[in-house]
Amino acid sequence: MKILLLGSGGREHALAWKIAQSPKVEQLFIAPGNPGTQNVGTNVAIGVNDFDKLKAFALEKQIDMIVVGPEDPLVKGIYDIFKNDPSTSHIAIIGPSKEGAQLEGSKDFAKAFMQRHNIPTARYKTVTAETLNEGIAFLESLKAPYVLKADGLCAGKGVLILPTLEEAKKELQEMLGGMFGNASATVVIEEFLSGIECSVFVLTDGKNYKILPEAKDYKRIGEGDTGLNTGGMGSVTPVPFATKEWMQKVDERIIKPTIEGLSSENITYKGFIFFGLINVEGNPMVIEYNCRMGDPETESVMLRIKSDLVDLLEGVANENIETKEIVFDERSAVCVMLVSGGYPGNYDKGFVINNIDKVEDSVVFHAGTTTNNNEIVTSGGRVIAVSSYGQDKNEALNKSFKAANTITFEGKYFRSDIGKDL
Ligand code: AMP
Ligand code: GLY
Repeated sequence: MKILLLGSGGREHALAWKIAQSPKVEQLFIAPGNPGTQNVGTNVAIGVNDFDKLKAFALEKQIDMIVVGPEDPLVKGIYDIFKNDPSTSHIAIIGPSKEGAQLEGSKDFAKAFMQRHNIPTARYKTVTAETLNEGIAFLESLKAPYVLKADGLCAGKGVLILPTLEEAKKELQEMLGGMFGNASATVVIEEFLSGIECSVFVLTDGKNYKILPEAKDYKRIGEGDTGLNTGGMGSVTPVPFATKEWMQKVDERIIKPTIEGLSSENITYKGFIFFGLINVEGNPMVIEYNCRMGDPETESVMLRIKSDLVDLLEGVANENIETKEIVFDERSAVCVMLVSGGYPGNYDKGFVINNIDKVEDSVVFHAGTTTNNNEIVTSGGRVIAVSSYGQDKNEALNKSFKAANTITFEGKYFRSDIGKDL
């Protein structure tokens, strides 16, 4: 099989690493990829949203399957664009239709979907500039802190958590006034939920599904979960509180009704669903849906899938995932993210990265790297993900921290408390 994977981050390097291990793969291309993906496949200089060029490339190379890493092309409708064109409709697309991607692309769509299907989530109200007064009344009915979410995609920045009613009212008006452009013309106001978060992933063919290993990610820049939100500073799998009983609740109360809801509403969905969950006194509730895998969760989750991922993806494409078996690696896996100094604020790029080849006991995934004069240099905020196995979480963490210290670049920072809270 010939596979084209879209994306260029650590998540895509981890997906490419896993896909490339499959004996079913003849050729793996990554568009646009990064210096890491080039080691397991062939990079192609086409952007993830350049649908015309992707179509032409897919036809030229006789691609059988496209695996979509990030949300953006999915929300823009890549599934429908390929399926509605007779020349590309035979190509399997791993990812939902444009309508299905609204689970991530519109917070209001996701909340209304959950309400229709009785899926546990925070109480909410959706408002626009016209209904600002109703929004203020709803805020007044809630207890602090206050959660405001831009309806549309904001590259992970569209959620504000405000400590006082005054700030919440002020920020609500600013969001509706264009703080996040059109994405915040509609705002979802939510009740604040208190608990530990856990990311659960499934692969679905639209009717049946397989649950992948769950993971916890670390979003804040500072140790002890302090400071600004980032794209993710590390991840750990398995998650101790995600016991068999808890996962059974997740399956029965959240996953099953989600898949059945999509199917009963005739929403085409063949791909990954990421359930961002929070454990509220033993009961899982949905914080958000994403229509793709998580980053940096993928960088640990892929290590724990023993089965052939491509065989599972074929099950998605051929709508027979129920005939497939998914086997987990019983070991722990963790990922520690090395980031640029200053991130998530301003940071410099172009620093030479040394000693990647000296890492022995970990898997190094590239995230924000590029090549310059045959050297690997930093090109983003999140630079390198170091992932490791261990008989337990601590053994895996020790390996990742060792590798995190081995790799050097100017301004390098990582959180040395990943996994310590669990
Ligand atoms: P989201 O983009 O929806 O994942 O929100 C970003 C982060 O904000 C989540 O990972 C949570 O940590 C936090 N958050 C979102 N919604 C809520 C909520 N209703 N209660 C508490 N925390 C929340
Ligand atoms: N790790 C959270 C995300 O990928 O959105």
